[in-house]
Amino acid sequence: MTVPDMPTDTTFRDHGDGTRHLRRAGESFLSWQGRRLTNTRTFASLDQESEQSQMKRVLTVKDLSALGVGAIIGTGIFVLTGIVANEKAGAAVTISFIIASFVAGLAALSYAEMACMVPIAGSAYTYTYATCGELMAWIIGWDLILEYLVGAATVSVGFSHYLRAFFHDAFNYDGNIKLMEAPFSYKDDVFATTGSWFSVPSFVIVILLTIVLCRGVKSSARVNNVLVVLKVVVILVFIFGACRFVDKANFVPYIPPNTTGEFGKFGASGVFRGATVVFFAFIGFDAISTAAQEARNPQRDLPISIGFSLIFCTILYLATSVVMLGVVNYKDIRGANMDAPFKVVASATQQKWLAIFCEVGILAGLISVMLVLLLGQPRIFLSMAIDGLFPQFAAKLHPTHKTPVISTAIAGVLVASAGGLLPVSLLADLTSVGTLFAFFLVHCAVLILRWREPHRERRFKVPLGPVLPILGALSCVGLIAVDSVSAIIRLVIWLAIGLVIYFAYGSRRSRLNNPERYAATEHMKVVDEGHSHAQIEVKGGEQQLYHADPEHKV
Ligand code: ALA
Repeated sequence: MTVPDMPTDTTFRDHGDGTRHLRRAGESFLSWQGRRLTNTRTFASLDQESEQSQMKRVLTVKDLSALGVGAIIGTGIFVLTGIVANEKAGAAVTISFIIASFVAGLAALSYAEMACMVPIAGSAYTYTYATCGELMAWIIGWDLILEYLVGAATVSVGFSHYLRAFFHDAFNYDGNIKLMEAPFSYKDDVFATTGSWFSVPSFVIVILLTIVLCRGVKSSARVNNVLVVLKVVVILVFIFGACRFVDKANFVPYIPPNTTGEFGKFGASGVFRGATVVFFAFIGFDAISTAAQEARNPQRDLPISIGFSLIFCTILYLATSVVMLGVVNYKDIRGANMDAPFKVVASATQQKWLAIFCEVGILAGLISVMLVLLLGQPRIFLSMAIDGLFPQFAAKLHPTHKTPVISTAIAGVLVASAGGLLPVSLLADLTSVGTLFAFFLVHCAVLILRWREPHRERRFKVPLGPVLPILGALSCVGLIAVDSVSAIIRLVIWLAIGLVIYFAYGSRRSRLNNPERYAATEHMKVVDEGHSHAQIEVKGGEQQLYHADPEHKV
């Protein structure tokens, strides 16, 4: 099957003579399948895919950095800070932020090294394909849906709440609650009806952003740049406007003691459990790497923008949390206002304008997070479709805008419907644990490639040899381990669903392992690992299932 705009002459049978996927004489079925599942894409084919990309290379380092900041600053700082302070860490939520930034920082280093070596839109999915093989790549591609689609749906629900608060505070207008909330809720493992019909704001904002994204990556980046400036200005005004109200007494005790003995309720365990929650605030910098095929100079600009956006946001987070918990005692961020800590602080300073001003910045912030997450997911779908693991229409680019228009529309409709209808809290805590799992595999990818491709050019290399990627991988495992057991179980269920889909669909259609499906109508160019090119014709359906030569060199 030929898909327009796809690099049709890129072959995925790129190991020597292109028969690696075939069963060898005398090989058992299980060992053959094991070989297929761990079959990796070569750098030759990835380089070729990058060179042949028809996406527009228009994003500058400034646009990429703004995409990072756009995706990072959102629900984490605007909503979760108050909850973590009140329920888990007190004023020491700042330490939770430091721990989470350490984990995210190590991941950013590994992403930077991989992004400049493999500048392909699939991000962690593609890095895993090049190192751990097809099955792990599929798992991580499926897992990334939790970060991007579920993450965006979660933020769209938060957007609806804040929009209501904004209309109430600014215009004393409450609207029709039945049209502002999803009809179902999910709390403590129990589903319930809310009495509402549909969250119209969540649905509408996602559809609007989808339209913006279909119209071009540069115009989307411009919208994002404006939103980022707005939210950063609001955070700076908040920090400087509220810092004179800081009362040192609110920092005593800095880490409230754990009096119940329950893990994660204050004390050191509360600070660590808090870190798993505020880790959500750092999610998103990796979305920069999904724009690799639209960056002007990806090998130079991706590492710079990943590093800049993370450092910049970390500084803002630390300053914000110190000021917030200095102005208001953690015990006072409670009840209905627990998820609106900026509002609590603004009220404590008795500056109503600050509350309304913050709400505008928060709305801008949440919109930009959704924009960048909705930009990232279709590009991962696109890479998966090019590899044959996802339906081919997802690889189609708009003829003029050169955006993955169909996968953008699908992602948009899925997120809009989920945000409008579903209790996303069911999946929301999966976003962090799913992302940590992806980060873990990116660290592994760095380590594997250091060993397998030691001489390949790296424009950016994580310093201190394997120490930091190993530390990074361990830190992801550590943070997953202190996350709630139910989140981990739900992640395993999600991945199991993904495995069923892989064996029912992807494994039969992957280009790497089923080139004959794609070869019937195509002359395919074989690229071997030494980058030599040879033109061969493949007769689909007529290939031998068993390779004749048992000594066949793979
Ligand atoms: N980091 C993003 C947020 O906090 C996902 O909303």
